[in-house]
Amino acid sequence: THVVTEACIKCRYTDCVDVCPVDCFHAGPNFLVIDPEECIDCAVCVAECPAGAIYAEEDLPEGQELFIQLNAELSQQWEVISSNEGALPDADEWKEKTGKLALLER
Ligand code: F3S
Repeated sequence: THVVTEACIKCRYTDCVDVCPVDCFHAGPNFLVIDPEECIDCAVCVAECPAGAIYAEEDLPEGQELFIQLNAELSQQWEVISSNEGALPDADEWKEKTGKLALLER
């Protein structure tokens, strides 16, 4: 499966949603996750994300491993998002920031 990581938090550009052939994205208030049961590992979303937030599970950067569980868990709680809703208002300012996990809204 592919995994949405910390870089998405407070950005949520949603460009990834446009290209997903199986509607595996689920959206929360300021983050978005991939349902591991639905993702077919096509990887087309990876290049679409302006924040570089999406990785194959086996290629996750160090420290991002906890997002495997978070994607699995939150995709069960959040609704499917199937069209681009545009970025959050301050997305460009938050794009390069790290340490955003505490800002994740559920
Ligand atoms: Fe998030 Fe990137 Fe999609 S910031 S909403 S994973 S385009």
